[in-house]
Amino acid sequence: MIVFKKAADIGQFLDQAGKKYSRTGFVPTMGALHQGHISLIEMAKNSGELVICSIFVNPTQFNDAKDFQNYPSTIEKDIDQLEKAGCDVLFLPTVKEIYPDGLINYDPYKLGYLETVLEGKYRPGHFQGVCQVVHRLMTIIPANHLYLGQKDFQQCMVIKKMTELKGLSTKIIICPTLREADGLAMSSRNMRLNEESRAKAVEIFKTLSHIKAVIKPGDLVALKKDAVKKLNDAGFRTDYVEIADAGTLELKDNWNGKDKLVALCAAFLGEVRLIDNMLL
Ligand code: PAJ
Repeated sequence: MIVFKKAADIGQFLDQAGKKYSRTGFVPTMGALHQGHISLIEMAKNSGELVICSIFVNPTQFNDAKDFQNYPSTIEKDIDQLEKAGCDVLFLPTVKEIYPDGLINYDPYKLGYLETVLEGKYRPGHFQGVCQVVHRLMTIIPANHLYLGQKDFQQCMVIKKMTELKGLSTKIIICPTLREADGLAMSSRNMRLNEESRAKAVEIFKTLSHIKAVIKPGDLVALKKDAVKKLNDAGFRTDYVEIADAGTLELKDNWNGKDKLVALCAAFLGEVRLIDNMLL
């Protein structure tokens, strides 16, 4: 695996590689890699492309300074995992490399409704930061395919919207959520859970699975309220449990029995905020 730290160097390399590889796949990450991230690398690898991963903890997408400071970093282990998975190129830029003009005063993306709900509502500015960094990374690494995880359901929709707004031709490929044996969605933030919290964390998966099992056409308000209560009783501080249209993310209080839905949840265990979702 070749490691680049400078945008100019990886740009030059990709220009050359373009003559050799007909297709390229890009997997942006913030590191502290787990098998969920690696599954995206494998997905790209299996389709025979030149696989490029980036590791960059993006300061502009953290609305909580503590969360940014505490974001785990395991770079040696990350490199090892990427090499084992057959990743071809790793981009490891500094903040200055991605934001040469500093971190403020950039033009907002017109994300509309998508950034007013769920993660957009609870993490103001988060999706603007995500768009900033992914757009900048995609300009440096103009791949044929961009691999994203369904684990961050709303992020997939936001990035898709950003690529449409900017007329980028890269095709977005959404990969299934990888889970631990008990059902907890793999996440870099799981590393910050103590033993007691780790045991509790599975309740999010259980709550989403319960909604999937019992949902029926008609009123959804009681089902959502009950889910929040169960999580709070189990020791979570729940931001939301919502049911939304899987295509538009319009929040639903009622289901006609036909629309494709997704259940989404965000909840704190101590200082650690976990998110998950499930197609219903
Ligand atoms: P990060 O949280 O490191 O995730 C990188 C990619 O891995 C995202 O597309 C995410 O959805 C995917 N992923 C995370 N956990 C997963 C799991 N359990 N199963 C499958 N895929 C999973 O998401 C980000 O970084 C950042 O916001 C980023 C897009 C890199 C922009 O900074």
